[in-house]
Amino acid sequence: MRSVSAAYWEACALHAAVRTGLTAALAQGPASGQELRQRLNLDQRGLEILLRALLVLDLLRLEGGLYHLNPQAAPSLTPGQSTDMSHAILHMADMVKDWAELAQCVRTGRPVERPAHAGPGPNPERQHFYRAMRDIARQQSRGLAGRLGLQSGMRLLDMGGGPGVYALTFSQEVPGLKATVYDLPGAEPYFREEAALRPGVEVAFLQGDYHRDQALAGGPYDVVWLSQILHGEGPAICQAMLDKAAAAFKPGGQVLVQEFVVQVPGHPCAGVFGLNMLVNTQDGQAYTQEELMDMLARAGLERIEYLGATKEGGPAGILRGWRPA
Ligand SMILES: C[S@@+](CC[C@H](N)C(=O)[O-])C[C@H]1O[C@@H](n2cnc3c(N)ncnc32)[C@H](O)[C@@H]1O
Repeated sequence: MRSVSAAYWEACALHAAVRTGLTAALAQGPASGQELRQRLNLDQRGLEILLRALLVLDLLRLEGGLYHLNPQAAPSLTPGQSTDMSHAILHMADMVKDWAELAQCVRTGRPVERPAHAGPGPNPERQHFYRAMRDIARQQSRGLAGRLGLQSGMRLLDMGGGPGVYALTFSQEVPGLKATVYDLPGAEPYFREEAALRPGVEVAFLQGDYHRDQALAGGPYDVVWLSQILHGEGPAICQAMLDKAAAAFKPGGQVLVQEFVVQVPGHPCAGVFGLNMLVNTQDGQAYTQEELMDMLARAGLERIEYLGATKEGGPAGILRGWRPA
C-alpha cells in the first residue's frame, strides 16, 4: 500500500524534470550539475535533490561527473523526436492539482471548478492537452490502418480528431484514403501544426461541434473513427454521438471506436481513467466493453466486435460496428 500511496512522488519528480527543462537540456547532451543550474536558472539545493532522485529512479545516469538521460528513457524525453512524450507528461503534471481534489469530486459527483484562462496568448494547459493527444496518438496510430482494413478510396471521418494524428497517419499508410478531421475550432492550430510535418499528405479539417451540429457534414463516409471521445460524455450524449456517426455513413459503412476499455481484472490505467473524467468532466466516465457494445447496437449497427487492445498490453482497445448494407 505504501508504494501506491506515494506513487505520485515519483510522477511529480518526472513532471518537475520536464517542467524545469532539465530533460530537454540533457536531450541535447550530457552536462554537469553546475552547467544545468546556470542554463536552467535553478536553485542549487533544489536541483541537486531532484538530480539525486532521478538517478535513483534510473531516469538519469551519472558518468565522469556528467549527467545524461538513461538511453531507454531518452526517446520519450527528446523534444522534436516522433517518440517524444514531453507534452503528455506536462499534461499529466497540469492535472495533479485537480486530482488532489478527487475525494471532494467523489462526494459531490462534480468536476473540479477551475477559472477560465485569463492571461494573454494561448492557454498553456490547452496547448499541453492537444500536444499530449498528439504524443500519445503518434505511438498508437502507427501500423493501425492495415489492421483496421482501411483502403484507398475510402472516405473517413475522424470525429473529435484533435491534432489529427490518426487521420494523417492512416492517410500516409493508405495512399488514396480521403480523410477529414472534425473538431472544435480550437483544435485546428494543432492539426495544422501536425499536418505541416507531413507534406504531401492531404487531410481536410472540418470545424464543428458534435453537441450542436444536427448532422455530421461532408458525408456520406465509409468509416467514422471515434478515438477517445466517448469517455468525455455521459451515456445519453455518447448515444446521440454514435447515432449521428451511424447516420453519416453509407450502408455497409462502419464505425470504429477507440477507448480505454474497463475490464476487471484489467489494465490499471483503463481502470482508473474514469476518475480522470470525474475530476475533469460533468458526465464523462470510462466504459466497459459491454457498455460500448450496447451503445453501438442501439445506434443500429450490427456485427459488433471487440478487435482487442490497440497495442498489446496497452490500456486502449478498439470496437467495430457495421451499418446494415
Ligand atoms: C481526448 S481528445 C481525443 C483526440 C483524438 N481523437 C485522439 O484520440 O487523440 C478529445 C477530442 O474531442 C474534441 N471535442 C471535444 N468536444 C467536442 C465537440 N463538442 N465537438 C467536436 N469535437 C470535440 C476535443 O477538441 C479533442 O480533440
